[in-house]
Amino acid sequence: MTRLLDVTDLRVAYGAVVAVDNVSLTIDEGEIVGLIGPNGAGKSSFIDALTGAIPNRGGSVVFEGGSLDRLASHSIARRGLMRTFQSVELFDDLTVRENLQVAAEQPTLLSMLADLVRPSKPKGVDDIAWASTLCDLDDALDRFPSELSHGQRKLAGVARALAKRPRLVLMDEPAAGLDTDESIAFGQRLRSLPGHGVSVLLVDHDMELVLGVCDRIYVIDFGSVIASGTPDEIRKNDRVIEAYLGGHDVKA
Ligand SMILES: Nc1ncnc2c1ncn2[C@@H]1O[C@H](COP(=O)(O)OP(=O)(O)O)[C@@H](O)[C@H]1O
Ligand SMILES: [Mg+2]
Repeated sequence: MTRLLDVTDLRVAYGAVVAVDNVSLTIDEGEIVGLIGPNGAGKSSFIDALTGAIPNRGGSVVFEGGSLDRLASHSIARRGLMRTFQSVELFDDLTVRENLQVAAEQPTLLSMLADLVRPSKPKGVDDIAWASTLCDLDDALDRFPSELSHGQRKLAGVARALAKRPRLVLMDEPAAGLDTDESIAFGQRLRSLPGHGVSVLLVDHDMELVLGVCDRIYVIDFGSVIASGTPDEIRKNDRVIEAYLGGHDVKA
């Protein structure tokens, strides 16, 4: 197994509130890793810190062998680490295709200079087709976000992250608001990603989804890891049952 992501003692504080308290986590190439915990446990802050949105975090993050410490968000994205947002942030006045194009293109200074010398075909066309097919959005490409179902909008948020052909996608509650059938279909799509060279960190409250698709799961509470292991180990873990599920057994 090749190590893709190595997070050591990640720490995020908002003033006196410590949202992420020295969390260490690894993801190997081809893995789907879950991160679960109650509301306010620090999951979104963890993702924010990994993608450069919280510059003054503590700890170290190594991605594909290179340090991400002190890199700005756009540099982190360019290295192949993308995220989705808890609230889908699509551009409402752009079609789904255009939303994906904006994500796929993001020109660098070098590519803009190269285009001046020798204009190229629109970039990212193949990547957009690939991402939209993976997310079952081919029929929705020319529609506007307001014309989509909630489930399709969530998928468009995922497709937008995929359109940059990332090595790792951090997904913040991608299945929130999906019905059971949509969630099962989404899980199947997730499982296909490692075959396309994309690994996943999945944050979600849908326990059937997380326990069903993840290779390993980390559980955090009050900013700290309280358990980690395979879905079977997590299902049986007393601290998880107590802290996360209020004493109820984890079904699924
Ligand atoms: N921008 C912020 N400013 C101050 N406190 C915040 C901010 N964002 C999150 N928090 C606090 O940090 C903790 C973790 O929040 P968050 O990372 O959103 O948790 P989760 O995603 O697991 O629900 C919570 O106590 C939350 O109130
Ligand atoms: Mg959150």
